[in-house]
Amino acid sequence: MSLTAIVRGCGAYLPEKILTNEDLSKTVDTSDAWIRERTGIRERHIAADGEYTSDLAVKAAQEALQSAGMEASDIDLIVVATTTPDLTFPSTAAIVQAKLGAGIGAAFDIQAVCTGFVYAISTVEKFLTSGQHKRALLIGAETFSRILDWTDRATCVLFGDGAGAFVLEAQDTAAAAGRGVMNSYLRCDGRQVDLLHVDGGVSSTQTTGHVRMQGNKVFREAVLRISEAMQRVIEEAGIKVTDIDWFVPHQANERIIKGVVKKLDLRTDQVISTISGQGNTSAASIPLAYCAGVADGRIKKGDLVLLEAMGGGLTWGAALMRV
Ligand code: UT7
Repeated sequence: MSLTAIVRGCGAYLPEKILTNEDLSKTVDTSDAWIRERTGIRERHIAADGEYTSDLAVKAAQEALQSAGMEASDIDLIVVATTTPDLTFPSTAAIVQAKLGAGIGAAFDIQAVCTGFVYAISTVEKFLTSGQHKRALLIGAETFSRILDWTDRATCVLFGDGAGAFVLEAQDTAAAAGRGVMNSYLRCDGRQVDLLHVDGGVSSTQTTGHVRMQGNKVFREAVLRISEAMQRVIEEAGIKVTDIDWFVPHQANERIIKGVVKKLDLRTDQVISTISGQGNTSAASIPLAYCAGVADGRIKKGDLVLLEAMGGGLTWGAALMRV
């Protein structure tokens, strides 16, 4: 029997505390006008002291399970895309499994920075369509605020904390009737590590390190790489750009999204954007934006959705799915 991975539900969680551009302008040399004009960001959420990536992940996962009409015990695979794990080991996915009270299935993290959720969708789709697992929780969760240098205005104004989750299920392809993850495309160019990285780590410095970025170089790469990935998934799936209903991009910068929309001849009213209220939540940004589109009734069953991201590595990728 041929199997397809379909999205059965989604969930989102944002920490209570909000940090506005105005707040930031009191601690670093920046302004609300600069941040809005250059990025589209107005405010971001910040995890509370003692609130960990796994806590955000569990809240998003619980909402996703509820929307799928499932219990944690129905899940036999948990994959968490994160760059900000609770601990160096075990994986955040293992911690989430215990906190959710999920069954003893497989659980592991994926580390592809902001592209993590696209890498995770592609990976989980293969686990499900091979028949190895039946129902997966796929979570993008980050507490990026913990790896920011709060004195570096070039990076600290960009990121926020949050989590988003999908429940994916293996279904008979004939019964799925065209729904499901259709195609994905993943890339990494490790030679570009200097453009965006963290200056610390377990093996090198025994510290966590802070985010360092050559923003304008990353910006140029982003528009190029993301457009390339989107064109590839569209072509390989044998569809046309005009078939796409919704575009759910990684929320790094409103100007990157606009550049990509223009390059691909998409319409701006097809974009699901959460950047103004959330900033860049790294691996969490795609499921957070997707859930916003579902919650307000824009994304509906049967719609064709295109996802994309680019991040540290450099990594980049895109995925196409029918809801
Ligand atoms: O999700 C992972 C992928 N990440 C991204 O895709 C981020 C990609 N990069 C970007 O989004 C943009 O490059 C930034 C938003 C980070 C920066 O925007 P930019 O238009 O590329 O600005 P820039 O880095 O070229 O800096 C322009 C000026 C500089 O001043 P001078 O040298 O012209 O005097 C910066 O020092 O803006 C200055 N600047 C700031 N000014 C006020 C940099 N950060 C700030 C700030 N507030 N927060």
